[in-house]
Amino acid sequence: MKKTLVILCSYHHHNTEKIAKVIAKVLDAPIQLPNEVNTEEIQEYGLIGFGSGIYHGQHHESLLSLAERLPQVSSGNVFLFSTAGVTGNAKIARDHSPLRTRLQSKGYTIVGEFGCKGFNTNSFLKYVGGMNKGRPNDQDLRQAEEFASGLKKKYMS
Ligand SMILES: Cc1cc2nc3c(=O)[nH]c(=O)nc-3n(C[C@H](O)[C@H](O)[C@H](O)COP(=O)(O)O)c2cc1C
Repeated sequence: MKKTLVILCSYHHHNTEKIAKVIAKVLDAPIQLPNEVNTEEIQEYGLIGFGSGIYHGQHHESLLSLAERLPQVSSGNVFLFSTAGVTGNAKIARDHSPLRTRLQSKGYTIVGEFGCKGFNTNSFLKYVGGMNKGRPNDQDLRQAEEFASGLKKKYMS
């Protein structure tokens, strides 16, 4: 069976970490921080996930700069995931675009993308109790599990 790796940056409320743990469990994958990733060994993985909160309309800077440091590959399957204050298919696609573009330019194929809401107390929101309290919730985690199961069936058999 091909090895899978999940790369995560989740600092605001560890929202994305909750999603990452569910995904990593289904895919039997270790979770590494961007600065723990050995960019030379990354080609050993058949499937790699990149996830973080969305900060100022994109994934965390550490994931974007990791993608820039990755060597060019002839093929490789990756997936993206995130949590954000505001979601919806078009918003998630837009927020994922900077990381997606960088990975595609290195030769990777994006085989799946997942996003859901995350508790957000950024800026003025902290004065009003934040938004999306309790997210990700059980349903979000179930959807993340289904997303990962789909990837497993398609890319790990
Ligand atoms: C500095 C900062 C900037 C943010 N910018 C955005 C944004 O541009 N769009 C959005 O929908 N949410 C934004 N958020 C909300 C986070 O994406 C959301 O809370 C996310 O779940 C945090 O993930 P984490 O707990 O894994 O770090 C921002 C949060 C912070 C702290």
